[in-house]
Amino acid sequence: MESNIFSSSKDVFLDAVNAKDYVQLDRVSTIYQSLKNSVKKPLKMVLLYGKPGTGKSMFLSKLYQDLSSSQQVHLYQTPILDESEFFKTLSKDLFDIKYTGELNFTQFLVILNESNLYDIPLVLLDEAQLYSSEQMEKIRLLADTRKIKFVITLHKTEREDLIAKEHFQTRIWETIELENASAIELKMYIQKKLMKANCFDGANIFNNKSVQLIHKITKGNYRDTNKLLYTVFDIYTWYSENNPSKINTRQISNKIIEMAAIHTGLIDA
Ligand SMILES: Nc1ncnc2c1ncn2[C@@H]1O[C@H](COP(=O)(O)OP(=O)(O)OP(=O)(O)O)[C@@H](O)[C@H]1O
Ligand SMILES: [Mg+2]
Repeated sequence: MESNIFSSSKDVFLDAVNAKDYVQLDRVSTIYQSLKNSVKKPLKMVLLYGKPGTGKSMFLSKLYQDLSSSQQVHLYQTPILDESEFFKTLSKDLFDIKYTGELNFTQFLVILNESNLYDIPLVLLDEAQLYSSEQMEKIRLLADTRKIKFVITLHKTEREDLIAKEHFQTRIWETIELENASAIELKMYIQKKLMKANCFDGANIFNNKSVQLIHKITKGNYRDTNKLLYTVFDIYTWYSENNPSKINTRQISNKIIEMAAIHTGLIDA
């Protein structure tokens, strides 16, 4: 295998959120379908939550890409924490009304109630754990008007169970949890990702044993898997350029996976 095959395999595992790199994963597809359906229901707000690196932002970008040809949809990947900026951005994006001064919640509610859009615009808010509970409450009130529909994603950390918070317990929420991959799902993830980038040789070097080791190290977390495999292929690139006789290009080496795990801090030396 040529060194450039290793380096292009390496690039597949750059940690980036881009809907065009989305790979279909069985369990995630089911969730995706149910999300697409619930977006069509009138009242519910959708809350997508899960630990860091479980693919929430990726899922949201994909939803945005898929829906944008058929309906009005807006994606805010970074929260707009200033309230006036938040409402000004919404009024510009949803109603094409530009404000130069301040715009508060009450004023925005007036605009919203006067609006008469045939389609209910869909607003996708990523990283919603960063919004204050006051702003979250206002977002909820906006959803209550039934004139905007929100899908929001939240980090669920070990420390703080955000969905236990009062404002997410009301019945208007439909909650969907994303989780880490099982070993089988992780193998699909790795191989599909490589094949999508035409790295077929890269995809073929993973067997069940090596995927099990990767799963043990990353617990099936997509971001940690990216980090690990990026480094694995970086090490392979180095060997193939400097010491090619040291590597077997037919099967991935557990030793190199472990080296990469130590290097990235995923396991202790
Ligand atoms: N379905 C998928 N297809 C392709 N890549 C994916 C998929 N799901 C996750 N990934 C990869 O995993 C990485 C982490 O996913 P993502 O950034 O969406 O996690 P997150 O849940 O939003 O994390 P955080 O809570 O830290 O924001 C992404 O950069 C992407 O490369
Ligand atoms: Mg994210």
